[in-house]
Amino acid sequence: MRKKEELLEEIRQEVERCTLCPLAKNRTQTVFGEGNPDALIMFIGEAPGEDEDRSGRPFVGKAGQLLTKILLSVGIQREEVYIANMVKCRPPGNRTPTLEEVEACFPYLEAQIAIVNPSIIVTLGSVSTGYLLGTKEPMSKLRGQWFDWRGGKRIFPMFHPSFLLRHESRAPGSPKYLTWQDIQEVKRVYDLLRESTRRV
Ligand code: URA
Ligand code: URA
Repeated sequence: MRKKEELLEEIRQEVERCTLCPLAKNRTQTVFGEGNPDALIMFIGEAPGEDEDRSGRPFVGKAGQLLTKILLSVGIQREEVYIANMVKCRPPGNRTPTLEEVEACFPYLEAQIAIVNPSIIVTLGSVSTGYLLGTKEPMSKLRGQWFDWRGGKRIFPMFHPSFLLRHESRAPGSPKYLTWQDIQEVKRVYDLLRESTRRV
Protein backbone atom coordinates (compact mmCIF):
# COMPACT_ATOMS: atom_id res chain seq x y z
CA MET A 1 0.00 0.00 0.00
CA ARG A 2 1.21 3.52 -0.77
CA LYS A 3 2.27 5.68 2.08
CA LYS A 4 -0.13 8.28 3.47
CA GLU A 5 2.43 11.03 2.81
CA GLU A 6 2.49 10.17 -0.89
CA LEU A 7 -1.29 10.07 -1.15
CA LEU A 8 -1.62 13.43 0.61
CA GLU A 9 1.07 14.94 -1.61
CA GLU A 10 -0.83 13.82 -4.69
CA ILE A 11 -4.01 15.58 -3.51
CA ARG A 12 -1.99 18.63 -2.47
CA GLN A 13 -0.65 18.98 -6.01
CA GLU A 14 -4.16 18.60 -7.41
CA VAL A 15 -5.38 21.37 -5.08
CA GLU A 16 -2.49 23.58 -6.18
CA ARG A 17 -3.77 23.41 -9.76
CA CYS A 18 -7.46 23.64 -8.86
CA THR A 19 -9.76 26.03 -10.72
CA LEU A 20 -13.08 24.50 -9.69
CA CYS A 21 -14.41 27.69 -8.09
CA PRO A 22 -13.91 31.46 -8.45
CA LEU A 23 -11.64 31.64 -5.36
CA ALA A 24 -8.83 30.31 -7.56
CA LYS A 25 -8.66 33.69 -9.33
CA ASN A 26 -7.65 35.76 -6.31
CA ARG A 27 -5.42 33.43 -4.33
CA THR A 28 -1.70 33.96 -3.82
CA GLN A 29 -1.43 30.25 -3.21
CA THR A 30 -3.55 27.35 -2.01
CA VAL A 31 -3.55 26.27 1.63
CA PHE A 32 -3.85 22.50 1.65
CA GLY A 33 -3.50 21.70 5.35
CA GLU A 34 -0.74 20.14 7.39
CA GLY A 35 0.10 17.90 10.28
CA ASN A 36 0.54 14.33 11.33
CA PRO A 37 -0.72 11.95 8.59
CA ASP A 38 -1.54 9.46 11.37
CA ALA A 39 -3.32 12.00 13.58
CA LEU A 40 -6.17 10.80 15.77
CA ILE A 41 -7.62 14.32 15.71
CA MET A 42 -8.27 16.56 12.72
CA PHE A 43 -9.16 20.23 13.20
CA ILE A 44 -11.21 21.76 10.40
CA GLY A 45 -11.48 25.54 10.10
CA GLU A 46 -13.18 27.69 7.52
CA ALA A 47 -10.84 29.22 4.95
CA PRO A 48 -7.36 30.71 4.68
CA GLY A 49 -6.97 34.31 5.73
CA GLU A 50 -4.35 36.79 4.57
CA ASP A 51 -1.44 35.24 6.51
CA GLU A 52 -2.34 31.74 5.36
CA ASP A 53 -2.73 32.85 1.74
CA ARG A 54 0.74 34.38 1.95
CA SER A 55 2.46 31.47 3.73
CA GLY A 56 0.54 28.52 2.27
CA ARG A 57 -0.03 27.10 5.77
CA PRO A 58 -3.29 26.84 7.74
CA PHE A 59 -3.93 28.76 10.95
CA VAL A 60 -0.69 30.75 11.16
CA GLY A 61 -2.20 34.23 11.68
CA LYS A 62 -3.75 35.63 14.88
CA ALA A 63 -6.54 33.03 14.98
CA GLY A 64 -4.00 30.31 14.31
CA GLN A 65 -1.76 31.45 17.12
CA LEU A 66 -4.76 31.31 19.44
CA LEU A 67 -5.60 27.80 18.19
CA THR A 68 -2.02 26.73 18.91
CA LYS A 69 -2.34 28.16 22.44
CA ILE A 70 -5.66 26.38 23.02
CA LEU A 71 -4.03 23.08 22.01
CA LEU A 72 -0.98 23.70 24.19
CA SER A 73 -3.20 24.51 27.19
CA VAL A 74 -4.01 20.79 27.37
CA GLY A 75 -0.58 19.62 26.24
CA ILE A 76 -1.40 18.93 22.60
CA GLN A 77 1.33 19.94 20.12
CA ARG A 78 0.26 21.19 16.70
CA GLU A 79 2.51 18.59 15.11
CA GLU A 80 0.56 15.64 16.55
CA VAL A 81 -2.76 16.66 14.99
CA TYR A 82 -3.85 17.44 11.43
CA ILE A 83 -5.16 20.91 10.58
CA ALA A 84 -7.17 21.76 7.47
CA ASN A 85 -9.88 24.09 6.23
CA MET A 86 -13.21 23.69 4.44
CA VAL A 87 -11.88 25.66 1.47
CA LYS A 88 -8.29 25.81 0.35
CA CYS A 89 -8.23 29.33 -1.11
CA ARG A 90 -8.69 32.68 0.59
CA PRO A 91 -12.05 34.35 -0.01
CA PRO A 92 -11.58 38.03 -0.98
CA GLY A 93 -11.65 40.25 2.10
CA ASN A 94 -12.02 37.15 4.27
CA ARG A 95 -15.72 36.86 3.50
CA THR A 96 -17.45 33.62 4.41
CA PRO A 97 -17.08 31.05 1.61
CA THR A 98 -20.29 30.42 -0.31
CA LEU A 99 -22.03 27.05 -0.27
CA GLU A 100 -20.94 26.59 -3.91
CA GLU A 101 -17.30 27.16 -2.97
CA VAL A 102 -17.54 24.80 0.01
CA GLU A 103 -19.16 22.13 -2.16
CA ALA A 104 -16.59 22.49 -4.93
CA CYS A 105 -13.73 22.09 -2.45
CA PHE A 106 -15.23 19.36 -0.27
CA PRO A 107 -13.87 16.36 -2.24
CA TYR A 108 -10.34 17.47 -1.32
CA LEU A 109 -11.19 17.54 2.39
CA GLU A 110 -12.98 14.20 2.05
CA ALA A 111 -9.80 12.75 0.57
CA GLN A 112 -7.72 14.19 3.42
CA ILE A 113 -10.12 12.69 5.97
CA ALA A 114 -10.05 9.32 4.20
CA ILE A 115 -6.24 9.22 4.11
CA VAL A 116 -5.51 10.51 7.62
CA ASN A 117 -8.52 8.62 9.00
CA PRO A 118 -8.81 10.50 12.31
CA SER A 119 -11.15 9.21 15.02
CA ILE A 120 -12.06 12.72 16.13
CA ILE A 121 -12.91 15.69 13.93
CA VAL A 122 -13.04 19.03 15.71
CA THR A 123 -14.98 21.49 13.57
CA LEU A 124 -14.06 25.11 14.29
CA GLY A 125 -16.94 27.54 13.76
CA SER A 126 -20.21 27.41 11.93
CA VAL A 127 -19.00 26.84 8.35
CA SER A 128 -17.33 23.46 8.89
CA THR A 129 -19.72 22.44 11.66
CA GLY A 130 -22.85 23.32 9.70
CA TYR A 131 -21.70 21.70 6.49
CA LEU A 132 -20.38 18.44 7.96
CA LEU A 133 -23.33 17.97 10.32
CA GLY A 134 -25.89 19.27 7.82
CA THR A 135 -27.44 21.70 10.28
CA LYS A 136 -28.15 25.40 10.57
CA GLU A 137 -28.27 25.33 14.38
CA PRO A 138 -26.08 28.04 15.93
CA MET A 139 -22.62 27.22 17.31
CA SER A 140 -23.84 28.09 20.81
CA LYS A 141 -26.13 25.05 20.60
CA LEU A 142 -23.72 22.70 18.82
CA ARG A 143 -20.38 23.25 20.54
CA GLY A 144 -19.11 20.97 23.26
CA GLN A 145 -21.02 17.87 22.18
CA TRP A 146 -20.12 14.68 20.35
CA PHE A 147 -21.86 13.79 17.12
CA ASP A 148 -21.50 10.49 15.29
CA TRP A 149 -20.38 11.06 11.72
CA ARG A 150 -20.46 8.66 8.79
CA GLY A 151 -20.14 5.63 11.05
CA GLY A 152 -17.03 5.38 13.17
CA LYS A 153 -15.95 8.99 13.43
CA ARG A 154 -16.99 11.58 15.97
CA ILE A 155 -17.39 15.29 15.38
CA PHE A 156 -16.88 17.75 18.23
CA PRO A 157 -17.75 21.35 17.31
CA MET A 158 -15.88 24.21 18.99
CA PHE A 159 -16.06 27.97 18.59
CA HIS A 160 -13.81 29.37 15.89
CA PRO A 161 -10.67 31.04 17.30
CA SER A 162 -11.50 34.22 15.29
CA PHE A 163 -14.81 34.35 17.15
CA LEU A 164 -12.89 34.08 20.44
CA LEU A 165 -10.65 36.96 19.39
CA ARG A 166 -13.77 39.12 19.11
CA HIS A 167 -15.04 38.07 22.57
CA GLU A 168 -12.40 38.83 25.16
CA SER A 169 -14.29 37.89 28.33
CA ARG A 170 -13.25 34.80 30.28
CA ALA A 171 -16.22 34.97 32.66
CA PRO A 172 -18.15 31.74 33.30
CA GLY A 173 -20.37 31.03 30.30
CA SER A 174 -18.32 33.21 27.91
CA PRO A 175 -17.08 31.71 24.62
CA LYS A 176 -13.49 31.58 25.92
CA TYR A 177 -14.56 29.92 29.15
CA LEU A 178 -16.61 27.33 27.24
CA THR A 179 -13.76 26.69 24.80
CA TRP A 180 -11.39 26.03 27.68
CA GLN A 181 -13.86 23.37 28.87
CA ASP A 182 -14.32 22.01 25.34
CA ILE A 183 -10.62 21.46 24.69
CA GLN A 184 -10.35 19.59 27.99
CA GLU A 185 -13.13 17.27 26.84
CA VAL A 186 -11.29 16.73 23.55
CA LYS A 187 -8.12 15.92 25.49
CA ARG A 188 -9.97 13.48 27.76
CA VAL A 189 -11.29 11.46 24.82
CA TYR A 190 -7.97 11.81 22.94
CA ASP A 191 -6.12 10.26 25.91
CA LEU A 192 -8.61 7.38 26.06
CA LEU A 193 -8.16 6.77 22.34
CA ARG A 194 -4.39 6.84 22.60
CA GLU A 195 -4.48 4.31 25.43
CA SER A 196 -6.66 1.97 23.41
CA THR A 197 -4.94 2.36 20.03
CA ARG A 198 -1.36 3.20 21.01
CA ARG A 199 -1.26 5.53 18.01
CA VAL A 200 0.77 8.78 18.15
N1 URA B 1 -9.22 30.87 9.86
C1 URA B 1 -9.51 29.66 9.37
O1 URA B 1 -10.64 29.20 9.41
N2 URA B 1 -8.52 28.96 8.83
C2 URA B 1 -7.26 29.39 8.77
O2 URA B 1 -6.42 28.67 8.27
C3 URA B 1 -6.99 30.67 9.30
C4 URA B 1 -7.98 31.39 9.83
N1 URA C 1 -20.50 31.94 14.99
C1 URA C 1 -19.57 31.43 14.17
O1 URA C 1 -19.68 31.56 12.96
N2 URA C 1 -18.52 30.80 14.69
C2 URA C 1 -18.36 30.65 16.01
O2 URA C 1 -17.38 30.05 16.41
C3 URA C 1 -19.34 31.17 16.86
C4 URA C 1 -20.41 31.81 16.34
